[in-house]
Amino acid sequence: MSAELSTTFTGLRFENPFLLSSAPPTESDSNIMRAFDAGWGGVVTKTIGLHPVVNVDGPKTKFMRANADSGRLSMQKRAGAVLHSSWNWELISDKTLDWWVPRIRRIKEAFPHKVLIASIMAGSGNDKELKHWQELAETAQGEGADGLELNFSCPHMDRRDMGSNIGKDQGLCSVVTEAVKEVAKVPVWCKLTPATADIVVEAAACFRGGADAIVSSNTFPSIPLIDPETMEFEINVDGFVSSGGLGGPAILPLSLAKMAQLTKAFPDRSFSGIGGVSDFNQALSYFLLGCGTVQVCTAAMLDQAVGPNVIKKLLAGLDAFLESHAKDGFTSVEDFRGIRRDRIVLQSEIRRPDAADYHSGYESVEGYAAPQPETAVRV
Ligand SMILES: Cc1cc2nc3c(=O)[nH]c(=O)nc-3n(C[C@H](O)[C@H](O)[C@H](O)COP(=O)(O)O)c2cc1C
Repeated sequence: MSAELSTTFTGLRFENPFLLSSAPPTESDSNIMRAFDAGWGGVVTKTIGLHPVVNVDGPKTKFMRANADSGRLSMQKRAGAVLHSSWNWELISDKTLDWWVPRIRRIKEAFPHKVLIASIMAGSGNDKELKHWQELAETAQGEGADGLELNFSCPHMDRRDMGSNIGKDQGLCSVVTEAVKEVAKVPVWCKLTPATADIVVEAAACFRGGADAIVSSNTFPSIPLIDPETMEFEINVDGFVSSGGLGGPAILPLSLAKMAQLTKAFPDRSFSGIGGVSDFNQALSYFLLGCGTVQVCTAAMLDQAVGPNVIKKLLAGLDAFLESHAKDGFTSVEDFRGIRRDRIVLQSEIRRPDAADYHSGYESVEGYAAPQPETAVRV
């Protein structure tokens, strides 16, 4: 048996299951082509919209690091501190659809065997906005994009009908997905926000609209820390800050929890996992929970902008894992995908040191079945 790094996800064949997610590493054709040269199986473009965006003055992303000895967290650069997270308030691509059009075609012509997914975003409050989604979808697929990722997750949009505000509204998730599916000839993935009470609800709505896969997570809502010396936010413009997005190692367990909810609720559906991945060990958790592909942003940003060493490590890790588990019959990701999904159970289903009479916080028998005290007055 020989190890097989390629995989098929939503009908698309990937040389390997690792993608650069929609973010600065995929903001240009030159970056994307460098990423493909470096070995990534696919990329999701930086999100393309029809409305022009203007980013804040100053840095759009910073990295938070922790001191190994004291645990101090800060964005200030200092020796010996280890990466905790990325924090960003960057909007979607500041390039127009016209700018992207010839580039999507050129990338696909240069790399016909790599997978290029176009991330797109529009509003959703009226028919005109739904037509914008369709225009973006038809244009991207017309230029050769292999799939579409609908951005229902950008945490920085003030508009009530855009970005993560779509991902917080199951009605909008469904309506937008359906509108795109009406015109799509390629697979449609929906990237959901983790900032909702129960992501299963929005995922179900996307599937009702016809989604081929769910992607999770985008960054988590967060604000920068306040510097104790200056009492100013560590990143701000004129002293002001707005809620931004946390990515990187800090969100790995949080994203895994979201993914576990999703894959348990829809074991037969397709999922692409994102959040805190920098080497194969972390990607493995997503595969074991049921993801068919894994995407990377923060780790790639810190590795020559497109992650040449990150993808090398991911590929070597997958190869070594398959080799060491050849005895278990693993020859590709499909052989171990989802095999730990069913290990997540209710707290009350976890074994206790002794057979204590524990009923998940309820009385042993409750409701109508509970024995009523003799004196109880029944009405
Ligand atoms: C600076 C920056 C810009 C991003 N821009 C986008 C975007 O345009 N569209 C999108 O869907 N996600 C965007 N993301 C989210 C990432 O694709 C990814 O979901 C998130 O960073 C979590 O992955 P990570 O832990 O590997 O960073 C951005 C993230 C960062 C850090």
